[in-house]
Amino acid sequence: MKKLLLLLLFSFSLSAAPLGETLFNGNCVTCHEMHTTNSAPSIKEVKMRYHKAFDSKEKFVTFMVEWITKPDAKTALMPEAIKKHGLMPLLGYDKESLTEIATFLYEHPF
Ligand code: HEC
Repeated sequence: MKKLLLLLLFSFSLSAAPLGETLFNGNCVTCHEMHTTNSAPSIKEVKMRYHKAFDSKEKFVTFMVEWITKPDAKTALMPEAIKKHGLMPLLGYDKESLTEIATFLYEHPF
């Protein structure tokens, strides 16, 4: 009986998506699809670019959160994406949610 309960708990925790993933799906996926570039670069492409530019999780997350809080063509890492799609609009997300999302993006293998 105990084993069954543990198994149930285990499978429950597997199905619960991390907060950052839920927030990403609710706020970003309309423009950034996982693997396909449509109205904005795919989030996989964005993640790859950020990984190349930053050698630590802290730098990756801090820069991404700051940039999304105030999108700016001068500091953007993907100027060619701005030429193609226009600058990402200012969407007024709070920093806590953005930190969850950026951490999820850093950690999630695409
Ligand atoms: C209304 C559409 C839209 C939404 C919603 C949106 N983005 Fe973007 N985003 C864009 C476009 C277009 C670009 C490419 C142009 C640019 O870099 O500004 C972009 C670029 C980016 C970049 C690259 C910036 C750089 O350094 O060049 C990051 C990081 C990013 N988005 C993260 C996010 C995250 C995280 C969310 C959700 C919280 C989100 N975006 C929601 C349209 C959107």
